[in-house]
Amino acid sequence: MTEIIVACDFPSKKEAFAFLDKFSEPVYVKVGMELFYREGPAIIEEIKKRGHKIFLDLKLHDIPNTVKSAMKNLAALDVDMVNVHAAGGKKMMAAAVEGLAEGKPGKRPLCIAVTQLTSTSQEMLENELLIQGKVADVAAHYALMAKEAGLDGIVCSVHEARRIHQVCGEDFLTVTPGIRPAGSSKDDQERIATPAYAKEEGSNFIVVGRPITKADDSVKAYNDIKEELK
Ligand code: C5P
Repeated sequence: MTEIIVACDFPSKKEAFAFLDKFSEPVYVKVGMELFYREGPAIIEEIKKRGHKIFLDLKLHDIPNTVKSAMKNLAALDVDMVNVHAAGGKKMMAAAVEGLAEGKPGKRPLCIAVTQLTSTSQEMLENELLIQGKVADVAAHYALMAKEAGLDGIVCSVHEARRIHQVCGEDFLTVTPGIRPAGSSKDDQERIATPAYAKEEGSNFIVVGRPITKADDSVKAYNDIKEELK
């Protein structure tokens, strides 16, 4: 099954709720740094009160003990999914999962790793980060590391989802941004894919922002994607 996560990239809660209140059914929303750092944990509580699910996209990356304590607090907010940078290493990722389990015993939030940011070029990887290897191979290695550390999945492009499932197993989740329904604007995304193609490639969650948030009729745009995924 492929689920939709709507990227709620708004500057403040005013715009975020004007958007969310158009929906009469619960949706899965991604709250990122922009909104969270402005509105704080209160916005999470308000979104949860309205019955929506939340992927809190803060990409934690620090020493294991700090990440563990931070994750304990995020889990207590009752978010459904969080993420870390795999570059923090296995110990840090395992600590993240431990913190989540302590913060919400019984049903901890899903923990997803960022392998390489899409803004990282081959040239930057080799010459700035001093990592030798192809970006895609490094991403696959980081994905396996995330799995070994006990994480639930990774963020990747639709074009990598199949390989990640081959390397890490079908149960390891792939969360894929860069989704554009046929005919919609590419915006600043490069390697885009349609919802149907994402499903075909085995993506578990598609992250869709502007094609829904900027549509004249956001609810219709959301429902059309839902139909395409059936
Ligand atoms: O509006 P759009 O559909 O392009 O939004 C995609 C969302 O996914 C944004 O919140 C963006 O920051 C996020 N994202 C991405 N590419 C990545 C990781 C995250 O587009 N590699």
